[in-house]
Amino acid sequence: SDLPEHTHNLVFIGMPGSGKSTFGRLAADRLGWEFCDTDPYIEQRAGRSISEIFRLEGEEAFRRLETEAIREFSRRRRVVIATGGGAVTRPENMALLEATGRLIYLDRPIEIIATSNLTGRPLLNGDKGKLYSLYEARKPLYERYAHCQVLNKYSLERVLDSIFEDLK
Ligand code: S3P
Repeated sequence: SDLPEHTHNLVFIGMPGSGKSTFGRLAADRLGWEFCDTDPYIEQRAGRSISEIFRLEGEEAFRRLETEAIREFSRRRRVVIATGGGAVTRPENMALLEATGRLIYLDRPIEIIATSNLTGRPLLNGDKGKLYSLYEARKPLYERYAHCQVLNKYSLERVLDSIFEDLK
């Protein structure tokens, strides 16, 4: 791998559609580390989709499951963690994540996210206005918590390389 042995876990934060799962998996493959993605983990444990959890149990229940997933993943070593876009809204999540590794804010221009397919995101529900208001509210949080920020508006290869450049 490209990183020294002692390097902490990597954690991706950022908006829905910013590429956290895509680059989380690619970074994990490159490092030979396990990839841990909170949303699929929650779905597997709950036995229902994120949309169903929101609809049947509500957002608060989802946030509790999300914190449990983050607590579990942050105990592991040599893992790359992809969080949900709303993880930054709970300070408890961020304390766990800051303690486990390097936080990378994947910054994808919001105009690009707005044109991409965001199905399965119950908070957005195809509502572009909601996407922009979430972005306004969360951008300062992503920036505050991140150790580094990577602009995701180039090719996969170039963005992945810049992630590893920032980790050196
Ligand atoms: C959410 C983002 C989603 C998912 C849930 C809530 C949010 O994850 O955790 O729908 O609050 O922004 P992605 O960022 O992977 O879409």
